[in-house]
Amino acid sequence: MKIRKMREDIYWLGAVDWDRRLFDSLIPLPDGTSYNAYLIQGSEKTALLDTVDPPMADVLMFQLESVPRIDYIIAHHAEQDHSGTIPQVLGKYRNARVVTTPKGKGMLMDLLHIPEGKFITVEDGETLSLGNKTLEFIHTPWVHWPETMVTYLPEERILFSCDFFGSHLATSDLSVTDEARVYEAAKRYYAEIMMPFRKVIRKNLEKIGDRAIDLIAPSHGPIYDRPAFIVDAYRDWTSEEPKNVVVLPYISMHGSTAKMVEYLVSALAESGVTVHQFNLAVTDIGKLAITLVDAATIVIGTPTVHVGPHPNVVYAAYLANALRPKLKFASIIGSYGWSSKAIEQIAGLIPNLQVEILDPVLCQGYPREADFKALDNLAATIADKHRQHNLLTP
Ligand code: FEO
Repeated sequence: MKIRKMREDIYWLGAVDWDRRLFDSLIPLPDGTSYNAYLIQGSEKTALLDTVDPPMADVLMFQLESVPRIDYIIAHHAEQDHSGTIPQVLGKYRNARVVTTPKGKGMLMDLLHIPEGKFITVEDGETLSLGNKTLEFIHTPWVHWPETMVTYLPEERILFSCDFFGSHLATSDLSVTDEARVYEAAKRYYAEIMMPFRKVIRKNLEKIGDRAIDLIAPSHGPIYDRPAFIVDAYRDWTSEEPKNVVVLPYISMHGSTAKMVEYLVSALAESGVTVHQFNLAVTDIGKLAITLVDAATIVIGTPTVHVGPHPNVVYAAYLANALRPKLKFASIIGSYGWSSKAIEQIAGLIPNLQVEILDPVLCQGYPREADFKALDNLAATIADKHRQHNLLTP
């Protein structure tokens, strides 16, 4: 992709990574991603905002062949998908300085071995003049590392937000053209890396809330020319109010747990509760994370393997615990052949979840009438709990 003009003297640079399918060796990327950098040419100074992931450094360095001078490299975030090409950019522009938060400086020195003399650190609210354009730096910690900041360009009312508001989405469109598609990609990104920090992110939303913003330019995915779309979505996702949703990750080996899941999902649906069921043998774990953003209740379904839960269930429970969603209730259903400690072991995996545990249902062998009755009771209890929290109308 060539350099693209956004406004007079403001350009998009960067790389679209259509083929990437995994981030951090952990996060599925079904739609690829992009590493957006931006160039702002003031009447006196020029700034490059962020760089690209090192495997795509050549793309950025080719784009920069037509840029004779860079005075400042703004590093919003030390993670290498944005910072990793800074050393190469510094090699080309010998007098450039890296502008970042005090925490960002230490992390960039550790991660990329950038010499200390190359840095300018900026405090929250500090500004840097490019002549006829001003960069205002707003510290926005924990989106999703402790050092993160964003840049506001008041003359053009543009917020450069790096990971904040970003979406893992490869597209040839500079700006959002399909809000529904971007909504899911941005929610996936929020769920996977920012959800645990939603309390701080709410404060960050307040911090940027009093600025007039015409464009939000993130460092992943397309630019928002209707900022209210993504800001409102973040307000919803970061609230502590869940929705009338049960998330049900499960796995089954010989059909007993699957039968229980099928029965429970049907009973919940009849009670007016929305259920998202995920068979962990085949699911995209990112879809599970997306559903955890809104869910009020998690029900984990597992067979028994060597007396404990199935390893895939252990992974899902560990992930849910790490993401700290706004869940209010949890339960476990499943089966065993001769002995099981699956319930105790799963309960031990989710200490971060501030949930009320609802009576689990564990059956020996294939479920019988009494087991189905217990599942009916569990469904009724979940619906009642959702009603008590005004998530489900009576
Ligand atoms: Fe896109 Fe946290 O890096």
